[in-house]
Amino acid sequence: MTTPLNILILGGVGAQNSHVAKELAVAGHKVRILTRDTQKRGARELAAWPGIEIVQGDTYDEETLEAALKGIQSVYVNTNGFAIGERSEIYWSIRIYEIAYWAGVKHFVYSTLPYVSRRSGFNPKFRVPFVDGKAKFAEYLKSQPTNPMNWSLIESGPYAEDNLYRRPPTYDERTGEWVWRIYLGEGGCYPLVDLPDFAWFARYIHEHPEEFRGDLLSVGIKHTSGKELAEALTATTGKPSRYVPLTKEEFLQDAPPIKIGAAHSPGYDDPTLWTAQQMFLHWSTVWIDSVGNTGLWTRDYERLDKLKPDRIKTVAEWMKSVGYDPEKPKHLVNTGMTVAGVGEVFLWGEDGSEQDKD
Ligand SMILES: NC(=O)c1ccc[n+]([C@@H]2O[C@H](COP(=O)([O-])OP(=O)(O)OC[C@H]3O[C@@H](n4cnc5c(N)ncnc54)[C@H](OP(=O)(O)O)[C@@H]3O)[C@@H](O)[C@H]2O)c1
Repeated sequence: MTTPLNILILGGVGAQNSHVAKELAVAGHKVRILTRDTQKRGARELAAWPGIEIVQGDTYDEETLEAALKGIQSVYVNTNGFAIGERSEIYWSIRIYEIAYWAGVKHFVYSTLPYVSRRSGFNPKFRVPFVDGKAKFAEYLKSQPTNPMNWSLIESGPYAEDNLYRRPPTYDERTGEWVWRIYLGEGGCYPLVDLPDFAWFARYIHEHPEEFRGDLLSVGIKHTSGKELAEALTATTGKPSRYVPLTKEEFLQDAPPIKIGAAHSPGYDDPTLWTAQQMFLHWSTVWIDSVGNTGLWTRDYERLDKLKPDRIKTVAEWMKSVGYDPEKPKHLVNTGMTVAGVGEVFLWGEDGSEQDKD
């Protein structure tokens, strides 16, 4: 056990942050986590964990940040670009950095995503604002000193817990197969992330600030194609399965033309905040182009293996770990939008509208 740290988690008590909070608390660290609504289900659940302090407040508010940062040694930041838009995400990430620096924080850990649009030569078809916002801040961070406040970056990716349950395979009575219809092209790959392993790496970075001084760790299970998803399902459940690539037109029918953000977000009325349809079309285009581990979104899986030899290394292992069964769908995580006064809302309503989740 390393020396216990006082760690502040910013960006709410959502899917990613709640996993990181629990992992840190179980390891003996004192975790303070900010949420706008201490009474919502996720916040109440976390509050029951020893070592986790839930504090009411909005991450995107200077006074709140100044108060929450008192006595904090290490900060974990996962801003919500989905909700607040690219412009606000860049602005608030920089302000959070500056306020943490002034508050005397020793280690600033930022959860980011790769700068795919730059890697593509700024090809507009690969521009995903909720990815670019984090990536542009990461470039800013790389230009900052690592003294007196050290910094580290950790890159996530599409959560298996979210993506494989949000778009599960459907049963084809005609052929007796479970058919996975995804907009992933013939050889395109998902660089899926297992949230418990991601949280393990986030904790490791907090506990090893020197090893990750001014460094970036990119996390993922393995680049996995649609065909491999179907094979993994058959291997783990015995159910015959097949992958069918969706066409762009079919994909667009599924993705609602509504803003991903929610009313009351700092950036909701910002014209640069895109709709779900626009964002996920480009997000999927990145995967279609990521054949194998060679496209715009790459991972050094050997480095991850060295750090955590028992990590989840294949989607089949992930399916076994969660008991994945398309006949028993369950919400492993509730990512999406949260509307003040309404609670959690489902991003993908049957008719493309927002749906109450509870
Ligand atoms: N879903 C994925 O597969 C995936 C993969 C990689 C990266 N990400 C990134 O993760 C971030 C989202 O975090 P998450 O995946 O953990 O999602 P999440 O569970 O849906 O939400 C995280 C937090 O965002 C806050 N939030 C929601 N709506 C808001 C609003 N209108 N204004 C201000 N804050 C709002 C909430 O904070 P409160 O607790 O204060 O309500 C919520 O707890 C995004 O930037 C996304 O790009 C997602």
